[in-house]
Amino acid sequence: MNASSESAIFVIFGGTGDLTKRKLIPALYNLTIENKLSNNFAIVAIGRRDYTTEFYRAQMKEAIKEFSSDTFNEKKWNEFVVKISYLRFDFSQTCEGYTLLDKYLSQLDKEYGTNGNRIYYLAVPPSSFEPIIENLNCRQMLLNKDNWQRVMVEKPFGSDLESARELNENISKSIKEKNLFRIDHYLGKEMIQNIMAIRFGNSIFEPLWNHQFIENIQIISSETIGIQSRGSYYEATGVLKDMLQNHILQMLSLIAMEPPISLSPEEIRDEKVKAIKSLRIDHGEKVEDTIVLGQYGEAPSHVGYRDEDNVNNNSKVPTFIAMKASIDNFRWSGVPFYIKVGKGLPKKETKIIVQFKKLPGINHYKEFDNTKPNMLVIRIQPNEGIYFQINAKTPGNEFKVSSIDMDYCQKSAISSNSTAAYERLIIEAIRNNSSLFTRWDELEYSWKYIESIEHAVKNYNYQYPNYEFGTEGPPLADKLLESNHKWYKS
Ligand code: BG6
Repeated sequence: MNASSESAIFVIFGGTGDLTKRKLIPALYNLTIENKLSNNFAIVAIGRRDYTTEFYRAQMKEAIKEFSSDTFNEKKWNEFVVKISYLRFDFSQTCEGYTLLDKYLSQLDKEYGTNGNRIYYLAVPPSSFEPIIENLNCRQMLLNKDNWQRVMVEKPFGSDLESARELNENISKSIKEKNLFRIDHYLGKEMIQNIMAIRFGNSIFEPLWNHQFIENIQIISSETIGIQSRGSYYEATGVLKDMLQNHILQMLSLIAMEPPISLSPEEIRDEKVKAIKSLRIDHGEKVEDTIVLGQYGEAPSHVGYRDEDNVNNNSKVPTFIAMKASIDNFRWSGVPFYIKVGKGLPKKETKIIVQFKKLPGINHYKEFDNTKPNMLVIRIQPNEGIYFQINAKTPGNEFKVSSIDMDYCQKSAISSNSTAAYERLIIEAIRNNSSLFTRWDELEYSWKYIESIEHAVKNYNYQYPNYEFGTEGPPLADKLLESNHKWYKS
């Protein structure tokens, strides 16, 4: 890829929104500091507010000081700021109205040498995805002829299977799948990209990566925060659509997929889809043996979910889920995939735990009585790293065996983690690497799976609130594990 193919205008629809201020502009600034953007690069923030470019730039300076993971550097800021301009533009208008935007961008092409290449980033509510893409297409701003134009969209893509299908059908009249980059910011996280390296780069793991040697897999993602100011959004999503449908199923598919025949985006995504397609919920008569939903209640330090702003005071929306999923294929037959996700829990962390089976006959030696299973823990955040638990002789004269930890800590930068993810996603979209983005069929099968969970719990009356904010979640969550399994605690 040569530098000129990376020259582009980055057009942000929703330029005055929260995401732009907290993630996009800090990520673009960091990329400038790291010299990862072409010299021929411009950023246009679109908004309805009556701002001047000068005013907007001043606001973004403050945002960078607050949210960038790098220390503020005046010299770099001066290099960066000249790339930004603000355009007051109502994106909800008709195709004709987009002439103004088209002209403005063509003018910038001349100034910045950006050659007609564009990333249109839709940091707007999902209801605006369709009209914006339709208008861009109608003004011939998505032609991809002598230059390229790509669209990045934030989640949620639809609100259920039906609406996602409809949205996709409508959008695909205006844009080809290969030019649409659906964001799941977890795919930009360093340790999530590392999953494939760990699995396929180590002869000690891949041959054992199946039901013969693995006892269970756990994916745990806990947050200490509540829903903050996102009451209306969360009432429409809940934990199932906010976290499970996207971030968690993406992690699960990378852990469970078959080795792709190459690392090209399409091959990887083909394998991920197959894993998502094979997901099942094997619930027997009692749903709560397989799926436990929860909603946080008040604690001295925090209001309960139902008392949050813009939340119904009888809300049935869950903020927590623990479940036992299974993957119905040769590799994973009989291996439970335990998932635990929630807000208002004691720790902020995301990790994937692979627990291996004990050696058959290990208890034959009484000295081995206390051995623990081998365990591989991929720590996604905050302390990115890999931990491996093995058994070895306890130092000393006696022959005793105990577990030892091999711990590799890569970096711990919780505050910058998702800014770093956005940096990676932006740069990969500019490079046209779609493997870090969700393809339509992955999404379609994820929605199907979420629907099957909703269907399974439909008649079960969880008594909300059923856990106090800041505690481990509903006690029932411990009961869904098979009798010899436990939630992993670090
Ligand atoms: C977002 C969800 O997609 O991911 C939020 O909408 C959640 O509710 C966030 O807090 C978690 O992201 P991270 O990177 O902080 O783990």
